[in-house]
Amino acid sequence: MRYHFNFFKKPIPRRSFLKGMLGVFAVSGAGVGHGYASTWKSNIRLERVEVTIRNLPPAFRGFTIGLLSDLHSSPIVSKDHLQSAAELLMTARPDMIALTGDFIGHTFRFPGEPYHEFEPRYVANIVDAFSGLKAPHGIYGVLGNHDFWSGPEAVLTLEKEFAQGFGVKWLRNRNVKVERGSEAIVLAGVDDYWQDSCSPGDALKGSPEDAVRILLSHNPEVNEILYDWQRIDLILSGHTHGGQIKLPFIGAPFQAGVRKRKYMEGLARDGHRQTYVTRGVGHLVVPIRLLCPPEVTLITLV
Ligand SMILES: [Fe+2]
Repeated sequence: MRYHFNFFKKPIPRRSFLKGMLGVFAVSGAGVGHGYASTWKSNIRLERVEVTIRNLPPAFRGFTIGLLSDLHSSPIVSKDHLQSAAELLMTARPDMIALTGDFIGHTFRFPGEPYHEFEPRYVANIVDAFSGLKAPHGIYGVLGNHDFWSGPEAVLTLEKEFAQGFGVKWLRNRNVKVERGSEAIVLAGVDDYWQDSCSPGDALKGSPEDAVRILLSHNPEVNEILYDWQRIDLILSGHTHGGQIKLPFIGAPFQAGVRKRKYMEGLARDGHRQTYVTRGVGHLVVPIRLLCPPEVTLITLV
C-alpha cells in the first residue's frame, strides 16, 4: 500500500517510510543517551533573534514577541518540560507571546486513518505548566496539524481551556490590531496549512495595507500560497522541529514536513517577507532530540 503525504513530492510506501524512520533512529542510536538525557534535563535554549522590519512604527522598535511552538504534550513530553519552557521564556519578559500550534499529539497520522485518540489530561498539563505565562500585549495562538489530527473535540478543548486557563486569544483566520501609544501593527493568524480551513485571505481581511503585518502560521509553507498583494512582513512558524534529529556532517536526514530546506529552522527570506521557524519545545514519535535542542524564542523587532 502506498501513502501520499502532501509534504512529500511523491507517494511513498508506508513500509519504506517506516523502514527509513527505523534506520535513522538506529543510526542515531549512539546519540540516544545524550539526546534522551538532554530532553529530561530540559536543556531548552532561549534563542534571541532580531528581525529588521521596514517602516516599523517607532513605538514598536524593540518590541519583543516570545514564541513557543510544537509542545506535543503527550506520554513522551512531560509537564515539567513544558513548565521549564514557559519559565525560561518568562525570564526574557516578552511584550507579547505567540503560540504556533502542535500543542498535543506525538505520532503520525496517515491519510484516511481515524483521528488520534484524544486525552484531555495532556491539554490540562499545558494549562498547568503555562499558568505563569503573561505578557502585557497578550498571548495569541494558532493551531497545528497535530491539533487538528486529534479531532474536533480536541480543537474545542484546546480553544476553551487555553482561553480560560491562561488567556489565549485565538487567531483562526483573523487579525487583531496591536497598539502601542498612538501607533499600531497587525497580528494575524491562520489555521494549519494542511487544513482546508487555512485562509490567509480571511486572516488579513480588513487590515490596513500599509501596516506592518505579522502572521502566525504553524507551517512555514504557508509562504507557498501567499499572493503578492497579501503583503506580510514577518511569519512566525514551527512545525519542523528543526529536524529533531541531526547527524554529524549530514544535518537533519528528514526535511520534516517542508519541501524547501530553507524553512527547516531559523530565519528565511522571500523578497521583503521574512519567516522565522523555531525548533519548538517538544518532540515527535520518540523522546529524542539529537544535535537539535528544544527552543523557546525571543523575537525583537528592530
Ligand atoms: Fe510539531
